[in-house]
Amino acid sequence: MRVCVIGTGYVGLVTGVCLSHIGHHVICVDNNEEKVELMRLGQSPIYEPGLSDLMKSSMQAGRLEFTSDLGAGVSHGDILFIAVGTPALPTGESDTRYVEAVARGIGEHLNGGYKVIVNKSTVPIGSGDWVRMIVLDGIAERQKVPVGAGAPATTPPAIEAQFDVVSNPEFLREGSAVYDTFNPDRIVLGSNGDQAIAMMQELYTPIVERQFAEDPSLPPVPVVVTDLSSAEMVKYASNAFLATKISFINEVANICDRVGADVVQVAQGIGLDSRIGNKFLQAGIGWGGSCFPKDVSALVHTADDYGYDAELLKATISVNQRQRLLTVEKLQQVLKILKGKTVGLLGLTFKPDTDDMRDAPSLILIESLNRLGARVKAYDPIVSQSGMRHGLSGVIVETDPERLADGCDALVLVTDWAKFKSLDYAKMASLMNSPTLIDGRNFLDQAALEKAGFRYLGVGR
Ligand code: UDX
Repeated sequence: MRVCVIGTGYVGLVTGVCLSHIGHHVICVDNNEEKVELMRLGQSPIYEPGLSDLMKSSMQAGRLEFTSDLGAGVSHGDILFIAVGTPALPTGESDTRYVEAVARGIGEHLNGGYKVIVNKSTVPIGSGDWVRMIVLDGIAERQKVPVGAGAPATTPPAIEAQFDVVSNPEFLREGSAVYDTFNPDRIVLGSNGDQAIAMMQELYTPIVERQFAEDPSLPPVPVVVTDLSSAEMVKYASNAFLATKISFINEVANICDRVGADVVQVAQGIGLDSRIGNKFLQAGIGWGGSCFPKDVSALVHTADDYGYDAELLKATISVNQRQRLLTVEKLQQVLKILKGKTVGLLGLTFKPDTDDMRDAPSLILIESLNRLGARVKAYDPIVSQSGMRHGLSGVIVETDPERLADGCDALVLVTDWAKFKSLDYAKMASLMNSPTLIDGRNFLDQAALEKAGFRYLGVGR
C-alpha cells in the first residue's frame, strides 16, 4: 500500500521504516531539511537497535523515501500518518500545535481520492474529530479566492473531502521499538469509517499474521476495533496503568525499607499471581522518558477539564517525584553534608539502550545535588561517547567508569545498562574517597559489590 508518514521523530521513523520493511511503499516527510538529508544518506537520526539496517535495506529496495515536501507525501499516500510530537506544556496539557499544523497542511494538499488520516501521535481525547475539523479548514483555506484577485473566470471545482480519521496508538518501548512493532500484544484501531478500518487492517495484515514475528507460530495479533475516543483512551490508560504499577511497587519498596523486607522478593511473590503479573514491578528511582510523564499528566488534565479529580493518577505522579529525591536523602544519610562532596552517576539516559534524556531521573538528581553544593560527575555508555554530553550542565561527563569513580564520595546507579553488571568495581572502589554505591535500580549483586569494597544500598531491601 502507499503510505505517507509525517514527522520522523521516534514514532514516525520507526513506523515508516517498519511499514516499508513489510512491503509497503512509504514516504516519510519532515520539515527539518537537515534531518531529511541525513536520512536520505541512510542514516538514522535516533539510536534504536535494528532500525538503521532496516532503513538501508528498504531504501535499497526502493520502498522508503524521505522528503520535506508535504504535498508530495500527501499525494503519494492512501494512508497518511500524523506522527509529530505532542510535548507537555508547563500546565501538563499536550501541546498540539504541530498536529494542528500538519492536519491543516494535509487539508491544503488533499487532491481527490479517498485517504485515511491516522493519528499516531498521542493526542488528547477527542482529537480525532478535531483533526477532521482542521483538515476541512485546510481544504477551505485552499479554495478561498485570494483577496484583490477579482472574480475568477471560472469557479474552482470544490474538492470533495473524501477522508476518514483513525486513531492508531503506538505502544513502542524505546530500545525495542522495532521488535515491538513486529511483535505487538495488540493493534488498536479507532474510527467512525468502515472503509478506513478495512484499509488499516489490510496495512497491518503481515504483522497480524506474524510474518515478521520472532515466533510466527503464535496465534494472530488481536486487533481491537473501536471508536475514536476509546482508542485514544486506550493509549492513556495503558501508560497510566503501567506508571501506576511502578509507583505502587516504589511505595511498597519505601515501606519495605522501614520494616526490613526485601522488595525484590515481595515483587516476585506478588508478580506470580497471574492477575497481577511480574512485569513493571521493578522498584527503583522512578519512571521517566518521553511517554509516561507526559501521558499521565495529560490524562489528569483531561479529567480536570471534565470536572473530575483524578486522585489516583495524581498520587502516581507525586510518588514518582518523591522517589527520585529519596536517593538524595540516602546520600545525605551516608555522607551527611553534601556540600563539597563528589557524587558519580552511573547512567544518564532515562533507561538503557536509548540516548533519550527526556524526563530522565538523572536530571533531577543533578539539579538537587548541585543545589546542595555537591559536585556531580557521570558516565553513560551512550552519552559519554556522543556529542550529547556537551549539552548538559551541572555535570562533568567522564569517558569511562574508572575516571568517574576517581575522587568520588559515592556512586549512584541511575540507569540499568547491562554493561554496569561487569565493571571492575574493586578497581573503582580503590579510586574513591569513600566507596559507597546507591543502586537506584536494584540491579547489581549486593554480595559482589560488598566484596569489591563497597557499602551498598538498594531501594527497598
Ligand atoms: C513506555 C511504554 O512501555 C510504551 O508502551 C509507550 O508507548 C511509551 O512509554 P518507554 O518510555 O520506552 O515506553 O519505556 P519503558 O520501558 O516502558 O519504561 C518507562 C520507565 O519506567 C523507565 O524510566 C523505566 O526505567 C521505568 N521502569 C520500568 C521502572 O522503573 N520499573 C519497571 O519495572 C519498569
